[in-house]
Amino acid sequence: MRLVSSRTRKQRIAIGAVAVLGLGGLSVIQALPASAAAGCSVTYSVTGSWNNGFQGNIVIRNVGDAWSSWNLTFSFANGQTVQQGWGGRFSQSGTQVTVANESWNGSVPNGGSVNPGFIGSHSGTNTNPTSFAVNGVACTGAPVTSNPTTGGPTGNPTTRPPTTPPTTPPTSNPTTGPPGQRVDNPYAGGRGYVNPEWKAKAEGVSGGSRVSSNPTAVWIDRIAAIEGTDGSSSNGPMGVEDHLLEAIRQGASYIQFVIYNLPGRDCAALASNGELGPTEIDRYKTEYIDPIAAYQNDSRFRSLRIINIIEIDSLPNLITNVSGRATETAMCNTMKANGNYVNGVGYALAKLGAIPNTYQYIDAAHHGWIGWDDNFGPTAELLATAARAQGSNIANVTGFITNTANYSALQEPYITVTEQNRQSKWIDWNRYNDELSFAQAFRTRLVQAGFPSNIGMLIDTSRNGWGGSARPTGPVTTGTLDEQINGSRIDRRIHKGNWCNQSGAGLGERPRANPATGIDAYVWVKPPGESDGSSTEIPNNEGKGFDRMCDPTYGGNARNGNNATGALSGAPISGAWFSAQFSQLMQNAYPAL
Ligand code: BGC
Repeated sequence: MRLVSSRTRKQRIAIGAVAVLGLGGLSVIQALPASAAAGCSVTYSVTGSWNNGFQGNIVIRNVGDAWSSWNLTFSFANGQTVQQGWGGRFSQSGTQVTVANESWNGSVPNGGSVNPGFIGSHSGTNTNPTSFAVNGVACTGAPVTSNPTTGGPTGNPTTRPPTTPPTTPPTSNPTTGPPGQRVDNPYAGGRGYVNPEWKAKAEGVSGGSRVSSNPTAVWIDRIAAIEGTDGSSSNGPMGVEDHLLEAIRQGASYIQFVIYNLPGRDCAALASNGELGPTEIDRYKTEYIDPIAAYQNDSRFRSLRIINIIEIDSLPNLITNVSGRATETAMCNTMKANGNYVNGVGYALAKLGAIPNTYQYIDAAHHGWIGWDDNFGPTAELLATAARAQGSNIANVTGFITNTANYSALQEPYITVTEQNRQSKWIDWNRYNDELSFAQAFRTRLVQAGFPSNIGMLIDTSRNGWGGSARPTGPVTTGTLDEQINGSRIDRRIHKGNWCNQSGAGLGERPRANPATGIDAYVWVKPPGESDGSSTEIPNNEGKGFDRMCDPTYGGNARNGNNATGALSGAPISGAWFSAQFSQLMQNAYPAL
């Protein structure tokens, strides 16, 4: 998380020694038992590049008999060289690259995968290699039954790999540490899990396949979703275990879950009210968090980085929507008084944080919610209190997420937050006018509140693109202050307090790691196309209320300055698929699709 530079600092190793291995050509062939069915598939991708450098990611999947050790070989076509690697011991001789397992990831069952990565350099062309072999067997994606022809009667190869060890043994890189040891940024250097249930919905809409392979989060929005629900609006039959198994099958390096079922959930709005009443903290612990933790702690899933986004729309409400504010609600007062938001978050952090390969990011609202001085510091302090509740401690926290399921622009390229501009109706004295600057500043404030200095932020960019024909292309510099600000802003909402199915919104930045200083990743946590709430009352048995902030004819309340809602009409209940919205999001994507 963190500062991008720290990742680079950690990525020092190791392959200088390689040339001394003297691996002449393709000599690394390992003995296979007679009639073994060996098989592999390899996905090679370049996940970033700059000048003459690039970062490569390799997912090696075992589709045959289990490996107790593995040795990958491939060749570069354009003279590329590996500078440093992790998740495997890299060596290179001429164009030939060999990656041997580390002591901790040699054993790979059928269906399992490993995921080494590296930093490389090139001098112009950088073609991806396409043919790979593991333990001397070409990776075709299917098992190959073989009596190795190069071997003698016992299957031993006639040409043996050299046994001379490198003079400086390569060391592993902590960017992808061994199971049980957390990495700095779980998003870096790997591929995210694609939820097949969301993918299918996205591909059901014309043009959806342009984005359907992006990772989105899996929302565990009720107890039944742990085992999978068929027929509920937002979930399908896949439960937590199914998603984890599928993530292994995909060769994903990380998977994202949203932990979202607090007692008295969503106390300032009605559309996402949940199944647990305000006092049902014991059910939250034993029927919800404990079973999720049991699945996540299963040793079958130890190679995955399991990311938990903790309780959207909870703690910040206890600062802004309580007694003493015009925006108070009775339920937020109740949840502040009974302590069940703080205790629920503390319990989730303690329980899930005890699992060695999990990463916890707590919800931290967005700039148009806590960017004002009255809210900023007190929210950071409350988050620190919750992180220490119920036996938890701040070390259970990997970072924080802003803008979840919201629409705040990542950056406002044509507006500077000056004392004068803060007086506009749109900015309304807020210190911030976009998510990136807010997330970076709030990270600093959280460190002051006691969180480790290497926490990282996530920003949900699923629906904050604001492209399309209404997007301004430069600042407006004439007219009143409000005319200038309104003409210059890319966020086209009527008011920053509007949060439901916003008309005119577009998909934002695609998910990616380390996009800016202090930011672990841009993520798509709200699966685009899933509704925020119904635009008219729709009876349901999921606890979802009808919030008039989703009704395009409503004139608003204190929390959106009594403005029109800007919501799309025809929306189903929250979490249910809303094709028309998904089409609009694709149409207004920025960057454009
Ligand atoms: C809903 C959840 C849903 C999530 C993701 C929330 O607003 O309340 O049921 O899973 O959005 O779409």
